[in-house]
Amino acid sequence: MSVTGTTRQKMPADILAMKGGAPIVCLTAYTTPIAKLVDSHCDLVLVGDSVGMVLHGLPSTLGVTMEMMILHGQAVARGLSNALMVIDMPFGSYEESPAQAFRNASRLMAETGAGAVKLEGGAHMAETIAFLTARGIPVQAHIGLTPQSVNTLGGYKVQGRGDSRARLVKDAKAVADAGAFSVVLEKVPQGLADEITAMVAIPTVGIGAGAGCDGQVLVVDDMLGLFTDFKPKFVKRFGQLGQEAEAAVANYAAEVRDRSFPAAEHSFADEVKK
Ligand code: KIV
Repeated sequence: MSVTGTTRQKMPADILAMKGGAPIVCLTAYTTPIAKLVDSHCDLVLVGDSVGMVLHGLPSTLGVTMEMMILHGQAVARGLSNALMVIDMPFGSYEESPAQAFRNASRLMAETGAGAVKLEGGAHMAETIAFLTARGIPVQAHIGLTPQSVNTLGGYKVQGRGDSRARLVKDAKAVADAGAFSVVLEKVPQGLADEITAMVAIPTVGIGAGAGCDGQVLVVDDMLGLFTDFKPKFVKRFGQLGQEAEAAVANYAAEVRDRSFPAAEHSFADEVKK
């Protein structure tokens, strides 16, 4: 959260001002080293509740808790000085009422230093988004495939085809009118994402929503090739770090077993030469 020289950490208003301009670059981060790595390249870093699946081996995001988000949020904050940090509200922490959402969103921001929260849901969350923004909490909305609703959606399916297209347009309008500074569109057909992007005055950030959005977000472990349990169609692997890491571990194991590691340069002499 440092202000150094002429640069300062981005704020929600900076992201809002990027509407229709240069594409907004976003990645997730869950730890300090990854936050440091992505910070200068990103406009926005999301402490996503995907942390539950990616780092904790959970089967979905439903088991992610406030405590997990706070711990990872604090770690990420220590690695950022440029990008806006947005933190996900976990399942069950905001849906009950605007008051419940404010209690938990304010705790997330106060205890982690995040500049904004993200929550899933369209028109039915508009009242909550308005309640939070009126009380000093910038909100990034998330519509389309909302993974916390996987059980009511019937799986991780593309959203907004056929009859549900009009509903998604309504959702986008509702969250923008309610004061969200940005909206994530997940797994939405390209044409619909383009229509929404042209319609709303806030930036759209796509994940599986085509190149026409105002920005893009990916889960960092997906794009680095570190998370390999499965690969959604919308993920491009820009690296194969999982394979590289496994090869390194195999080399280490082999060298321990044949005693070529540690070598002399990794060991300490009995006496220090004068
Ligand atoms: O939890 C997450 O990482 C997300 C992004 C994929 C948008 O919500």
